[in-house]
Amino acid sequence: MGRATVRLDPAFTVGPVRPRMFGSFVEHMGRCVYTGIYEPGHPAADELGFRTDVAELVRELGVTLVRYPGGNFVSNYRWEDGVGPKADRPRQLDLAWRSVETNQVGTDDFVDWARRVGVEPMMAVNLGTRGLQDAVDLLLYCNARPGTRLPDQRVANGHVEPHDIRVWCLGNELDGLWQIGHKTAEEYARVAEETARAMRQVDGRVELVACGSSNRAMPTFGTWERVVLERCFDLVEHISAHAYYEPVDGDVDSFLAAGEDMHRFIEAVVATADHVAAVKGSDKRVMVSFDEWNVWYHSRFPGERSLEIREAPELIEDVYDVRDAVVVGSLLITLLQHADRVSMACQAQLVNVIAPILTRPGGPAWRQTIFHPFALTARYARGTVLRPAVVSDRVETRAYGPVDAVVVTATHDPESGDLTVFVVNRSRTESSELTLDVAPPVGGDPTAYVLVEHLVVHDEDPSATNTEERPHRVTPHPGDAAVDGATLTATLPATSWHCIRLTERGVR
Ligand code: AHR
Repeated sequence: MGRATVRLDPAFTVGPVRPRMFGSFVEHMGRCVYTGIYEPGHPAADELGFRTDVAELVRELGVTLVRYPGGNFVSNYRWEDGVGPKADRPRQLDLAWRSVETNQVGTDDFVDWARRVGVEPMMAVNLGTRGLQDAVDLLLYCNARPGTRLPDQRVANGHVEPHDIRVWCLGNELDGLWQIGHKTAEEYARVAEETARAMRQVDGRVELVACGSSNRAMPTFGTWERVVLERCFDLVEHISAHAYYEPVDGDVDSFLAAGEDMHRFIEAVVATADHVAAVKGSDKRVMVSFDEWNVWYHSRFPGERSLEIREAPELIEDVYDVRDAVVVGSLLITLLQHADRVSMACQAQLVNVIAPILTRPGGPAWRQTIFHPFALTARYARGTVLRPAVVSDRVETRAYGPVDAVVVTATHDPESGDLTVFVVNRSRTESSELTLDVAPPVGGDPTAYVLVEHLVVHDEDPSATNTEERPHRVTPHPGDAAVDGATLTATLPATSWHCIRLTERGVR
């Protein structure tokens, strides 16, 4: 049995819990849209054809923000094909995923869905096959008041009020050779700069996200961010980061420690952004939008070039196990640990495509294992992220060297008195005995905190999954945490994720 000792003080903080941290991603890819969120004719479809059973799960997941419509898809998307009467919308070939795009869902439909589900839409513009004019047109269509051609077209399509979309991504992964319209850092920086400037002229309230790197191993990583920000620094609020994880060559220890990669990634992007700020003599802090992250078994995907062209094909529908859920929980911990500089994050994707929710066409929708750590973190991370001091046994990893087995973050909401601790034991073999001391509120009672609930995602079989036949095989179950005075103890089995909820006596 290993050991982890944690000291927590609500006075030592990282930053606010930012609601946009619990974002997700809907791409026109595979079955994310068609037979995912949208399936007219399904018994649970609403009058617009969207599945209410899926919408209900999205609400339960606690998603706050949804990026749309891609992804690689956006780099060859013509948004105007997806608005207006459905019968008039063309079928198009999507080159990114070699699929037939029916355009039965488009910008207006997505925004309507987002509003009904209660999530904020985050829109990406096509800087691959298109550019400035297209971005300006889409922004005018979405956000301008009626009286000129494009917003009047929106009105004619049934939307008198502007969509008022605040967050816009300036393209997608244009550093990647796989991206349609791939660019060098200099080429992208130029296009992003002129597009951002024009978009700001259309609507001064937009928040813009420049493309960062597609992952930390990109050959241009670091240089890309510097070059892009040197040109766009004054025009953007955020720079993106994307990362997907899987065990490489069977290296599960490094996979369980994927948070280490995400941590190094964020630190490097922040350092680069702040370097540009320093050179410019600016105090502005460009934030990181981690707008694609998840577990993705690339090794199970033959690659898009080998795909037969089809409509809504089953693409990368990874079935996740307990280990994957623990990794997802630990990545959320990493994101929270960087709440001072990560403004938004989107788990990719929402339904069917590497997703927490799976559906069967005409059939049910169910929660994958990774659904649970996301839903619990989104529900209980409130107020301010704390900075715990942790001493933990170490785990040796091939990719990152020795890392802490036990990783912790916590949030504190002074309004409600709730203090929630999120913990992961990344050791594959050793349980750990957690001892956590909470400092009392300043001048307050040392026994101020009482235990509300301890929920665990763990299974004796780390390869257990949820399936249509057994959708509740893996669900959070109660743990053994106990509080004595100001000290909390709990057993953390190997490969487990925990949400431990405390509250301050007498605040509520
Ligand atoms: O989420 C799947 C794909 O991963 C996205 O289309 C792309 O942006 C990333 O490479």
